[in-house]
Amino acid sequence: MTRIDPHSYFDDAQPRTGRWHLRLRVDFDRKVLEGEATLIFPEPVEGPLDLDTKGLAIHRAHVTANMTKVPFELGPEDPILGRRLRLNLPAGTLGVTVAYETSPEAIGLQWLAPEQTEGKRKPFLFSQCQAIHARTLMPCQDCAVARVAYDAEITVPAGLTAVMSAGPDGDHPAGSGWHTFRFKMPQPIPSYLLALAVGELEGRDVSPRVRVWAEPATVEKAAWEFAETESFIQKAEGLFGPYDWDRYDMLVLPPSFPYGGMENPRMTFLTPTLLAGDRSLVDVVAHELAHSWTGNLVTNATAEHFWLNEGFTVWAERRILRALKGEEAAALSWALGQKSLDESLDRFKDQPELTKLRTHLEGVDPDDAFSSIPYEKGARLVVSLERAVGEAAFDGFIQAYMKHFRFQSITTEQFCAFAEAQFPGVLAKVKADAWLHEPGIPADAPRFASPKLEALTALGAGWDAAKRASAEELKALTPTELLILLQNLPRPLPEPECAWLEAQLGLTARGNFEILVEWLCIAAASGFAPTFPRIREVLATVGRMKYVRPLYKALGQTEAGRTLAREVFAEASPRYHALTRRVAEGVLAAYSA
Ligand code: BES
Ligand code: ZN
Repeated sequence: MTRIDPHSYFDDAQPRTGRWHLRLRVDFDRKVLEGEATLIFPEPVEGPLDLDTKGLAIHRAHVTANMTKVPFELGPEDPILGRRLRLNLPAGTLGVTVAYETSPEAIGLQWLAPEQTEGKRKPFLFSQCQAIHARTLMPCQDCAVARVAYDAEITVPAGLTAVMSAGPDGDHPAGSGWHTFRFKMPQPIPSYLLALAVGELEGRDVSPRVRVWAEPATVEKAAWEFAETESFIQKAEGLFGPYDWDRYDMLVLPPSFPYGGMENPRMTFLTPTLLAGDRSLVDVVAHELAHSWTGNLVTNATAEHFWLNEGFTVWAERRILRALKGEEAAALSWALGQKSLDESLDRFKDQPELTKLRTHLEGVDPDDAFSSIPYEKGARLVVSLERAVGEAAFDGFIQAYMKHFRFQSITTEQFCAFAEAQFPGVLAKVKADAWLHEPGIPADAPRFASPKLEALTALGAGWDAAKRASAEELKALTPTELLILLQNLPRPLPEPECAWLEAQLGLTARGNFEILVEWLCIAAASGFAPTFPRIREVLATVGRMKYVRPLYKALGQTEAGRTLAREVFAEASPRYHALTRRVAEGVLAAYSA
């Protein structure tokens, strides 16, 4: 037996699935996916095959070609991994079909009532499989090393549209109020990139290979917001080589989506909180797009090497930003990253192992290990390498890296061996061992200075009634500059200062959620009551964990805030995504501690 991933029952000594064929019906009444998953092998196989499942009801299994029953056994439930499904395949098996259904509690799915959508008429379903939730959608080798191509037939109530992390392959009526959508993903992907969404959806083309999908009421706004995407693709192609996934489409989800974005291939999933109305939050699109190379083409082998996905992608996102918006914009983006890095280091001060880049996660749920560390510490290691060899040489290295490991899922150790072969001595030069295997941030980590940044930081930190900026100065700030200023304001901020800021800048009515939530956190921590109705509204609808965690935390600073937090949680948590609920519960539990 060769287990290579602490989060999967995948056994590397057993056959690898080459392709999935999914036939599923989306049952909104029972909140389940129900149907068949066929696992297809590149050559005849036999013997035990261990799959990951979580919450799945397995009805039966048979050899696809001849309906021969396949004996199976489900192991005991592990709270993180779920249950191992062992199939005993007869000699000569080319495909095995498992009939099953998902659980209404599947953590990889969120079933939304019509009230939770923009249109309020139709229900909505979306998946979020990274890191280890694909097993709540289907029985599979839920390990990034076991890459699979797939095709799917998804049957949904007529009037709804299904999209997947795959290319469309036609659709047709399926009788009595049902409609079937077909999909094809020809390239081998890690299981965590399986994705499905179903709802009342419309698409708008913003370039020949880019389409934005959203609910009808949002689609025009979304298409405008993300109209620059084609230019991002062209910059990214310059950095990494040709875009290999055919189309780059995006889906704007309802607000309960727990992340900012998810790089599902051919169909990035996005939070609607990016729709600021001024294109000021499109760096998230640059990030998800960059994953088309770093993450989707070259993939982390397991969650213990997650920094390979996110560190490189943050670095790439900021290279794209620098090329399109200039040095200053990139420096400010690094500064925002530093802030979230500092917050994560603080959050994990009692779990320093989680601040290493190369983590050891046996017995640890990847969702609990999630933080800005792999992103921002990872990106700083990438910049150290870039600075050590020079930008031109590093650009060549990145292209060679992509070429060498295309469609592979690799470990930190494989990356290091490759880097050392390309640039002998470079790992020692940047002290890569300290970055990878020691907690915290090395003292000589790269800095990203900019005069603007220093001015904003100083202005924020020294803020008081006598030394605040003039209203005119404030109004002249770009959204990112304003965000950095807000981040640096003292908290609690005296009430008159809160009132003055609100009067000058109308912060509570802002459409840029980064600014809005930063402000609401200041206001919450300062007990500035006029913002409480908006805080309540945001926490009742928005599931993005990046916002939910700090908002509940800030409310914890005052008695009135804690009361509001408990009220809104009691009312809204049944509608939260399971991941969001867990985060909010954790923060609320710490109030009484
Ligand atoms: N792949 C991540 C989201 C993710 C990570 C989901 C781990 C589940 C487990 C995505 O690319 C991401 O990083 N999103 C960020 C955006 C960003 C850093 C610009 C987010 O959601 O905020
Ligand atoms: Zn990412």
